[in-house]
Amino acid sequence: MSAEPGREPDRHVLILGGTTEARRLAEALEHHPSYQVTTSLAGRVSAPALPPGDTRIGGFGGIAGLAGWIIGFEVTHVVDATHPFAERISFNAAEAEALTGVPTLALRRPGWTPGPGDDWRFADSLEEAAAALPPLGGRAFLTTGRMGLHTFAHLTDTWFLVRSVDPPDGPVPPRLEVLLDRGPFTLADERELLARHRIDVLVTKDSGGSATAPKLTAAREAGIPVLVVRRPAVPQGQPQATSVLEALRWLDADPA
Ligand SMILES: NC(=O)c1ccc[n+]([C@@H]2O[C@H](COP(=O)([O-])OP(=O)(O)OC[C@H]3O[C@@H](n4cnc5c(N)ncnc54)[C@H](OP(=O)(O)O)[C@@H]3O)[C@@H](O)[C@H]2O)c1
Repeated sequence: MSAEPGREPDRHVLILGGTTEARRLAEALEHHPSYQVTTSLAGRVSAPALPPGDTRIGGFGGIAGLAGWIIGFEVTHVVDATHPFAERISFNAAEAEALTGVPTLALRRPGWTPGPGDDWRFADSLEEAAAALPPLGGRAFLTTGRMGLHTFAHLTDTWFLVRSVDPPDGPVPPRLEVLLDRGPFTLADERELLARHRIDVLVTKDSGGSATAPKLTAAREAGIPVLVVRRPAVPQGQPQATSVLEALRWLDADPA
């Protein structure tokens, strides 16, 4: 990226965040003189890891609120770097682009793919995963996040190890242990966790990325099935990037 030293920022990038990629993009732009960066977080996590640059926390109030923010704060570029399962905000970002005309990039890391030795089963939703789970195992490591935990609350015969950043606050399955932790996780730790809790099935979203992938390797090594929740649909017709580098190229390619 090129810019004259000492120049005032003439671009304001709004990063819709909540992911490692969002933070890495803010870090990459931190010292760039042409860019003012604001990262927006939903406010779901009580002590989020804050990126450099400005941050704002909390919903915008739907499409109109987001569009109003973009116009009001003279945003020149939007990067939707939200989690692949954060469906609503991504559709809101696409609608806001249509209203404001401010170019918007979807930055989404690629999903995971099974390799030799993996025993993966797929579900299209958390509800489908809950329905498919009981025959697969009786001691489940559930890593789909605390927000959808109520979906598994009726499973009284399954024992769950639930890992989440903050404690669950809604209905939960009756037999569970909660492990409060935040990635990245190492393969050694994931192996130990599966063995210690005698886990016989892993449930995960297809989040992609390396920070939480070691659990998949540990499951393969342990010979246990993995129930993978497929990604929801995303808005069509937007430019897409799968890495921070591609996102930087997209920003740099805009002569505006
Ligand atoms: N879903 C997951 O599995 C998951 C996993 C890891 C991290 N996250 C992160 O957690 C956040 C919430 O996820 P979600 O699945 O609840 O999202 P969602 O269902 O797509 O969004 C629900 C509402 O939350 C607000 N929101 C979401 N992301 C926001 C952001 N970055 N900045 C400001 N407001 C935001 C928006 O409220 P308004 O309509 O009021 O603007 C949105 O309509 C996302 O930012 C995502 O990146 C999600």
